[in-house]
Amino acid sequence: MTDRYAVIGHPVAHSKSPLIHANFARQSSQDMSYEKILAPLDGFAAAVHAFVRAGGRGVNVTVPFKQEAVRLATRLSERARLAAAVNTLAFDGRDIYGDNTDGIGLVRDIRANLGRNLSGQRILLLGAGGAARGVIQPLLSEHPRQLIVANRTAQTALNLAAEYAGFTPPPQGCGFGDLHGQSFDIVINATSAGLTDSALDVAAGIFAPDSLAYELLYGRETPFMRQARDAGAAVSDGIGMLVEQAAEAFLLWRGIRPDSAPVLRELRAAGGR
Ligand code: ATR
Repeated sequence: MTDRYAVIGHPVAHSKSPLIHANFARQSSQDMSYEKILAPLDGFAAAVHAFVRAGGRGVNVTVPFKQEAVRLATRLSERARLAAAVNTLAFDGRDIYGDNTDGIGLVRDIRANLGRNLSGQRILLLGAGGAARGVIQPLLSEHPRQLIVANRTAQTALNLAAEYAGFTPPPQGCGFGDLHGQSFDIVINATSAGLTDSALDVAAGIFAPDSLAYELLYGRETPFMRQARDAGAAVSDGIGMLVEQAAEAFLLWRGIRPDSAPVLRELRAAGGR
């Protein structure tokens, strides 16, 4: 029998996950389907339970349900617990297992697709909301030389960094203004400023020579990407992270690591960068 998977969100029509997982299933000869489920804003848990009853084996969770999915899960991975967000659920007939593959997806995109090491690097993470929280632990696990979390509201960055004080080196939090005179090898934009086409009030000097600027959003050229390009940085949007987080979810569900390169090529050709 064909195994059923889905992405659940609100909205969900724009999701590229069905295309990505269909490609993964084809290349690895998996008998599975992958659909989109639009859950009402107050109906996430009901939609998941209905899908489980209908024989669903797993779902990807997207905006705005990633935090609610933490509460719905009966078992959580360590990385989902630390991120306080779940983007992947797996159903085994007993448990609702919650995982978060966003951060590892980012790390894999930077390492495997963009060919950059994270270990020993100076990393700047811009933003301290849900997106930043989702990627900080996997970044720290790569043993950077330094990880600074900078946010428009400095206190939020200080609070987020303090939660990870047990890592080596411990991340440091600050406001954008505190970045003057510092430069970084990898600058990751985890703010939502690009959604409103807003530039970030950060100094051009944050981009070290040969630095990589990584925008978590995809499908649009954000002011951050323009700022970084003007400062001479290599620039990437988050389309590779999208594919790699999906590959990690596929691995969790099917026990097979799919090849992300063909689908990444397909998405880039279709207009993502
Ligand atoms: P997300 O889940 O996308 O991270 P969020 O939790 O609402 O959404 O967090 C949004 C992040 O983007 C925050 O770090 C926010 O900064 P503040 O804490 O100061 O609000 C940041 N952000 C949003 N718009 C921004 C802008 N125009 N300039 C700088 N930072 C911005």
